[in-house]
Amino acid sequence: PGAVQSEDTQVGCVFGGSCVLPCRFQPNSDTILHWVKKDGEDVHVHSYYDDQDQLGYQDPLYKGRTSLFHDQISGGNASLGLARVNLQDQGKYLCYASTSQNNQETFVILTARAPVTRVDIVLVNNTVTCKSGGIYPIPQLTWSVSPRPATVLQNTTEVHEDDQGLYDISGSLRTVYNDTESTYSCSVQNEHGARKATMRLHPPMENLSRSEVLLPCNASGLDYITWTFNHNQTILRRQAGQEVVVETEWQQHVRDLSESGSLLLYVTSSAQSEGTYRCTLRYADEEDVTHIELKILEDPNEEGSSSTVGIILGVDPVIILIIAINSLYIINR
Ligand SMILES: *[C@@H]1O[C@H](CO)[C@@H](O)[C@H](O)[C@H]1NC(C)=O
Ligand SMILES: *[C@@H]1O[C@H](CO)[C@@H](O)[C@H](O)[C@H]1NC(C)=O
Ligand SMILES: *[C@@H]1O[C@H](CO)[C@@H](O)[C@H](O)[C@H]1NC(C)=O
Ligand SMILES: *[C@@H]1O[C@H](CO)[C@@H](O)[C@H](O)[C@H]1NC(C)=O
Ligand SMILES: *[C@@H]1O[C@H](CO)[C@@H](O)[C@H](O)[C@H]1NC(C)=O
Ligand SMILES: *[C@@H]1O[C@H](CO)[C@@H](O)[C@H](O)[C@H]1NC(C)=O
Ligand SMILES: *[C@@H]1O[C@H](CO)[C@@H](O)[C@H](O)[C@H]1NC(C)=O
Repeated sequence: PGAVQSEDTQVGCVFGGSCVLPCRFQPNSDTILHWVKKDGEDVHVHSYYDDQDQLGYQDPLYKGRTSLFHDQISGGNASLGLARVNLQDQGKYLCYASTSQNNQETFVILTARAPVTRVDIVLVNNTVTCKSGGIYPIPQLTWSVSPRPATVLQNTTEVHEDDQGLYDISGSLRTVYNDTESTYSCSVQNEHGARKATMRLHPPMENLSRSEVLLPCNASGLDYITWTFNHNQTILRRQAGQEVVVETEWQQHVRDLSESGSLLLYVTSSAQSEGTYRCTLRYADEEDVTHIELKILEDPNEEGSSSTVGIILGVDPVIILIIAINSLYIINR
């Protein structure tokens, strides 16, 4: 029997996903198949003979993750299915196929990638921070600011490798002093793609307590939109073409969400409603955040002693008023 060799095939697999390492052979009787990883010493990946899988020598690294297309082996298809791909799977694989007529060796080179899937951006204490993770190969992070600042802005980037060999990246940029209307964008990328996150600073807003405030956002009806308060409290979310989901504790405050994503909110005291409101839009390869600082001015007409007592007791002032009137009534009788 003669040995046939062909050129190496390159296969790119997504980390955590499934992948097929292709291999074809001249079909005949008495088929023997071996998939071996050439990693210094040979690692047994998957074997097949006597018309069935033979996994006695399979390396534990591949346990439960490999499969052949059994119904197609008789047609000369020895391709290997590999599930839950990790970075250790990268390297050169030998597909050895032997029949009563010939032997054949084919090599497949597997590379893995973990694309940037999401970038989070926040503004805290005049610093914009941008974060992403679970990326391979190593990513880069770049900033762009509009309008263009007069000076170079102080910025740092940190990259960490996690225990699976994937990279987490975090970048911080000091904003322009007292900035209220710039747009900061950060882009995280490697050779397999890029994602961008944009932070739009809205000029601060001021409103009276116990009033309605319209917090602007710039969405289309088709965007995935989230409103949050003080960075980690979700107010509501709306997925493309679906109903708005408002968190229970915000239901008494949310009056309306317009088609453009602007939020009509009923604000109460500064203690409850003052803070940072963020509208986040999520697109295929980009997140867009509008950041609004809302200041609440206490209404001098509303701010009587009764309202203060109500807040301290955690009781609605109206109830206190009713109690007060009732007791006056009782005293008068
Ligand atoms: C082998 O069969 C599988 C399953 O049908 C298919 O995905 C794959 O492309 C085939 N490979 C070759 C080399 O024909
Ligand atoms: C932001 O500044 C405040 C007041 O200076 C400080 O208490 C807080 O810890 C800072 N937050 C962060 C995340 O640095
Ligand atoms: C970030 O820092 C680098 C190095 O100091 C500088 O070249 C770059 O211009 C800075 N980025 C911005 C947006 O200012
Ligand atoms: C920056 O903000 C502070 C507090 O809001 C204000 O007192 C100061 O005048 C501002 N500085 C500039 C240059 O706008
Ligand atoms: C709330 O503030 C916005 C902008 O500052 C203003 O246009 C609106 O009239 C205010 N509404 C109330 C009820 O004060
Ligand atoms: C609103 O969105 C449009 C298109 O997405 C963009 O061109 C425009 O600059 C945005 N405006 C603001 C104020 O963000
Ligand atoms: C939200 O963030 C604040 C500080 O940034 C923290 O004290 C608080 O525990 C966080 N809450 C939740 C629900 O994560």
